[in-house]
Amino acid sequence: MCGIVGYVGPRESQPILIAGLSRLEYRGYDSAGIAVIDGDGHLGMRKRAGKLGVLRDDLAEHPLPAGTTGIGHTRWATHGGPTDANAHPHLADDDKLALIHNGIIENFAAIKNELREEGYEFRSETDTEVAAVLLGREYRAHDGDLVAAFRSVVRRLDGAFTLLAMHRDNPGLVVGARRNSPLVIGLGEGENFLASDVAAFVEHTRQALAIGQDEIVAITPGGVEVTDFDGNPVGVEPFEVLWDAAAADKGGWSSFMAKEVSEEPEAIANTVRGRIRDGLVSIPELDGLDELFAGINRIIVVACGTAAYAGMVGKYAIEQWARVPADVELAHEFRYRDPVIGADTLVVSISQSGETMDTLMAVKYARERGAKTLSICNTQGATIPRESDAIVYTHAGPEVAVASTKAFVAQITALYLLALHISHVRGTLSDTEVRQQVLELEAVPDKIARVLEDEQAHIEQFARWMGDTQSVLFLGRHVGYPIALEGALKLKEISYIHAEGFAAGELKHGPIALIEPGQPVFVIVPSPRHSPLLHSKVVSNIQEIRARGARIIAVAEEGDAAVLPYADEVLRIPLADPLFEPLLAVVPLHIFAMGLATAKGLDVDQPRNLAKSVTVE
Ligand code: F6R
Repeated sequence: MCGIVGYVGPRESQPILIAGLSRLEYRGYDSAGIAVIDGDGHLGMRKRAGKLGVLRDDLAEHPLPAGTTGIGHTRWATHGGPTDANAHPHLADDDKLALIHNGIIENFAAIKNELREEGYEFRSETDTEVAAVLLGREYRAHDGDLVAAFRSVVRRLDGAFTLLAMHRDNPGLVVGARRNSPLVIGLGEGENFLASDVAAFVEHTRQALAIGQDEIVAITPGGVEVTDFDGNPVGVEPFEVLWDAAAADKGGWSSFMAKEVSEEPEAIANTVRGRIRDGLVSIPELDGLDELFAGINRIIVVACGTAAYAGMVGKYAIEQWARVPADVELAHEFRYRDPVIGADTLVVSISQSGETMDTLMAVKYARERGAKTLSICNTQGATIPRESDAIVYTHAGPEVAVASTKAFVAQITALYLLALHISHVRGTLSDTEVRQQVLELEAVPDKIARVLEDEQAHIEQFARWMGDTQSVLFLGRHVGYPIALEGALKLKEISYIHAEGFAAGELKHGPIALIEPGQPVFVIVPSPRHSPLLHSKVVSNIQEIRARGARIIAVAEEGDAAVLPYADEVLRIPLADPLFEPLLAVVPLHIFAMGLATAKGLDVDQPRNLAKSVTVE
């Protein structure tokens, strides 16, 4: 939520800021703005409501003076609607300083009152402007020492924030701070960057530093200084960004989502790569943790949205293979219900962004209660892995479209690797059994590639034909249930039509009343070979709703002839062991959601009201 970028160096900053913001636009796209300090020490600023394109066009028509120090922001509105006035940057100190912010300043009202009483005026409804005006006051109180002034500001603020600021009397200096919100440093040659995400600067440098909680950074063209909020120097963790700028580009695809769905096979293969030795799972990041895995008696997965559905799939594998009781909790519910956790609980968080505030707070809560924490995350240097005892990174590459697709299959893959690793440590699976499952997992990318090759055009055509549909239901059992939930979420999220996922067995306990003639229902059909009992139950469920007029779209294994008499449409997936079916069955649902939204002329990458990284609770 909100993307932030800052630059200092010898180059003209505006194109760098705009290109950086275009890579961060997934974080919010209500409004955007930039500020630059030009060679004569003037501060220029432009901000506009709407997507980044509005600002870009405005700058093309009325350019700002060139400047080599700058900050830029793309917004997801919290305090105050998406208007020009509420967009960032916010100016203060007679428009000599500019400040941008990601997060929520919880005590802004009290500070605003204090500043108003002193005669300061405000031009927006945002919490951010309070920090800007306060910084202006502190700048004067600290005789023009921007870093000292900034330090005194951040010490006053409660809540979650990443702040960047610059002052025209200090060209070549951008200061930043973070608490519970992301900020990374990009290290260039004679130039430096600050951003919410490495994507903003990866085309200029892959050398990065992760800033810790409650730290302040000052960047100049020649250096970087990081301190705590009291000004004490702190060590910073360098890392190299593992992907290059091309990975975050749309390439020739019509949308990032289309590109990312096409990358689902690769996301799984890359997450497995380097983690298999002698046919067994060997995750280097988990070396030395065998005692922990042997000692736990419970696993709780905490996550939100699609990541939580990945957790629900993982629960089946953890329990079946590792024989450890596993529960999945929506992260935002977890800490408010006094859960029973302790030193023998492993809390596994799943987050693509690694910044989801609900999930972060659940992890912190679990640690405070003495539980062990492990993070499954797709973003290097993000907050959640840094707050966890152990990390297993998914290697899906940057996911830009707001709706999660390739990260979802990579999350399931990481959970499966973890479950197999724990099974090995605890001896619940023999080496032969683990090797067998590893082979199954390694076969999945090619099978997904076949779904894309054989079914994508057919599903897209079918989605176009369904273009006027008002409501779609999704049914599944066992591991098909979370896939039904994921299919429904994806459809709601990007095509804005009503969609619900149900456990197929639950239908007769109420939701079957929704079925009326013509109601489209997707059914994830289990394998008749591997799960004959479950298959026959699902076929019965299909018959029950078909008898009431439902239109059945079956996602079924190749060769499953039993569904043919009852299905209006069959979307085929290759044969796989039951636990691996979700990785295949979800692909037609991702393609369908994308196809339907495209047929409705919607922006599949940036659906309304959403942002990719949800950094508010
Ligand atoms: C849905 C979607 C969201 C995210 C959720 C968690 O397509 O993308 O439901 O899965 O907001 O986000 P992360 O994984 O970044 O914690």
